[in-house]
Amino acid sequence: MADGEVRAEQLPLEQQVALLSGRDVWHTRDLPEAGVPSVLLTDGPHGLRVQEAAADQLGLGRSHPATCFPTAVTLASSWDEDLLEEVGRAIGIEARVQEVGVVLGPGLNIKRHPLGGRNFEYLSEDPLLSGRLAAAMVRGIQSRGVGACVKHFAVNNQESYRFVTDAVVDERTLRELYLAGFEHVVTEARPWAVMAAYNAVNGSACTHHTWLLRDVLRADWGFAGLVVSDWGATVDRVRGVAAGMDLEMPSSGGVHDTEVLRAVASGALDPALVAASAQRVLDLAGRAASAGGEAGDLPIDVHDALARKAAAAGTVLLANDGVLPLADDTEVALIGAFADHPRFQGAGSSQVHPTRVTTAHDAMRDRGVVVTYARGYDPARPERDAALLGAAVAAARAAEVAVIMVGLPATDESEGFDRDGLRLPDQHDALVRAVCAANPRTVVVLSSGGPVAMPWRHEPAAVLAGHLGGQAGGGALVDVLFGDREPGGRLAETWPLDRSDLAADPWFPGDRHRVEHREGLFVGYRHTTTADVEVAFPFGHGLSYTSFEWGEPAVDRGAIRAGERVVVRVPVTNVGDRPGAEVVQVYRHDRTGVVLRPRRELVGFDRVQLDVGEHGTAEIVVPGRAFAFYDVDEQGWRHPSGPHDLEVARSSTDVVHTLTVEVTDGVTTAPEPPSAPAVAVTDEDFERRLGRPVTPRPALRPFTRESTLGEVSTTLLGRLLRAGVLRAGPVDDAMLDDDATRRMVQRSMDELPLRALVAFGGGRLTPAGLDALVDLLNGRVGEVAGRGMAALRRRLRP
Ligand code: BGC
Repeated sequence: MADGEVRAEQLPLEQQVALLSGRDVWHTRDLPEAGVPSVLLTDGPHGLRVQEAAADQLGLGRSHPATCFPTAVTLASSWDEDLLEEVGRAIGIEARVQEVGVVLGPGLNIKRHPLGGRNFEYLSEDPLLSGRLAAAMVRGIQSRGVGACVKHFAVNNQESYRFVTDAVVDERTLRELYLAGFEHVVTEARPWAVMAAYNAVNGSACTHHTWLLRDVLRADWGFAGLVVSDWGATVDRVRGVAAGMDLEMPSSGGVHDTEVLRAVASGALDPALVAASAQRVLDLAGRAASAGGEAGDLPIDVHDALARKAAAAGTVLLANDGVLPLADDTEVALIGAFADHPRFQGAGSSQVHPTRVTTAHDAMRDRGVVVTYARGYDPARPERDAALLGAAVAAARAAEVAVIMVGLPATDESEGFDRDGLRLPDQHDALVRAVCAANPRTVVVLSSGGPVAMPWRHEPAAVLAGHLGGQAGGGALVDVLFGDREPGGRLAETWPLDRSDLAADPWFPGDRHRVEHREGLFVGYRHTTTADVEVAFPFGHGLSYTSFEWGEPAVDRGAIRAGERVVVRVPVTNVGDRPGAEVVQVYRHDRTGVVLRPRRELVGFDRVQLDVGEHGTAEIVVPGRAFAFYDVDEQGWRHPSGPHDLEVARSSTDVVHTLTVEVTDGVTTAPEPPSAPAVAVTDEDFERRLGRPVTPRPALRPFTRESTLGEVSTTLLGRLLRAGVLRAGPVDDAMLDDDATRRMVQRSMDELPLRALVAFGGGRLTPAGLDALVDLLNGRVGEVAGRGMAALRRRLRP
């Protein structure tokens, strides 16, 4: 079936409606009589998770082996679009082998706060970097005839209360920060699909958000693809169809079909909107079918090698006194249980069943390194173990160099819950301190999906952030330690000294049903560079084994009209004794005094790979949009008139050269002048920024469809309900073979809104049944009985 061959209008309304929700957890509905095949949609961002059995509704069961590429945090740290495209291509190839039509990724939500549980699945705190890297990945996946589904649209920046929270954000912040990356990927790479997030934005659920889905995504950005709900995210299916939220996943067991059909019959829903959404599902099926399955085996070795290359490219050398790279014959004490039990991905829907796993210990042995191994800590326990610590210190003392592998345990970061703090487990900190004291030539390797506190950061001779490096992360680490590969990475997010250094901190993760973005644009380095806050390691930071000299940069034009672009060229020479890559970053500093702005914002970057002694030129195209701000009053992008510095930098705090560009015919006033408060601490300031009053926080009683299982558990009936839902078992306990997943399921259960019981109930609970349940929980037994009698009377009426 070719794209669009079956027209939705030719199908009876019932069939059109049937297309608007899944056949099961992972497939769209097929219509064999009309020749419409079903499409398999599968996670995820860094490798495939095609489930073995479709039995469990949360889709957490075991999956077929696939290459586990480095997670998004690692890939993004490479700042390498070609690499992300290559990884995307490889995921696309695996998708074809496993007959997957749409890959549910990449994820590009902004890392608003380093404690976001799912940050490892997201690319950056910066929308330009996120958007460009995500676009590269989408291009790669789709080059193989497989669709990419970018997620989670929009403002899904935390795990706490993710099903029910309402993100309150002003429009300028939305346009410039939270939507800008999506805008880039949608307009530049044309993903087949966009996933509507669980949360609400400014009072309306993303799965029926008319402004987000119709006005912004489709009208402003020209998106013609499919919008799919996050799994179980539907709040109101009829409003969803009206807003162009085409496909509900997973299946609601037909319950929502009935609602949509009724709405059409009553005139509440325009049948043309049903047809439009059905057509988009048909188009997706057509596209997927025209690619066809690709017989053949998984190229396991080739992809494992790519995963290893990518992990090295995303490894960031945070500090190095010259100890790295190690000489081939270095005697190493390898310390830390992660060397044998690596952390290489996070729990949740993105968890891949890897084709193989290379540990750092294996890789050292394979390379013929003279290595003594000491566990140092028990990864399953938080407290120190004196015997393990003592053995580690002894091994460190006896070796030339100690390499310690520490980081976050799996139970600390996962989909489904946010991190509690920046600290490493106490025993990890203690191990670093003790080993550094025993051997000054100590290298610390961090495995984590995000920034961690390093109270000992000046003690080791070198520190590498390996992030979560995928199945070949251990091999990549050894490549980097011994200089077989360069640590190519630059941080794609700020590593703060303390969580309180972040402007967003007081409002993260917010109340149960509301998160207020009072820091506006001042997220990550946008805040720390404006307020001059000291950080542990800045956004953009990363050292190299070689050194580069930068020549005098030039900008092609010193004055531009609003909307015009400029090109910055920077001569770079590799003056060290090894090949390497330099990442030249350009930040805009608006000096016009027209509008409130972060001190520095990334407007472009280029990565140049150079051999020893080689000269090259970094070429950074700064698009016209880079000078613009979003004018909410005028509903459009405006360019401030006057001087803008372009800061050519090694990181967000290491500016090497400054160029100036004058915008000649822009605007001279803005709704938010520089005198406006950066962070809207008071309600008054926040309301001014929002342009409307802040509504009172939703009350927890009486219960509504939005109340969570945890909240209703304050009543006896609620406790019984919660126990029943757990017993009915959305997941088989045997599938939960790790503590992180168990913790995630537990939290998800407590935070599940009652209305999700309809979507996840597979047709067992209707919306009317749900309302009766809510009434009962509120103690309104009379109402329920009354409605039951009325229904009975209607039925008995002749
Ligand atoms: C996650 C999505 C994922 C989906 C399917 C949801 O819980 O938020 O990212 O794609 O499940 O597994």
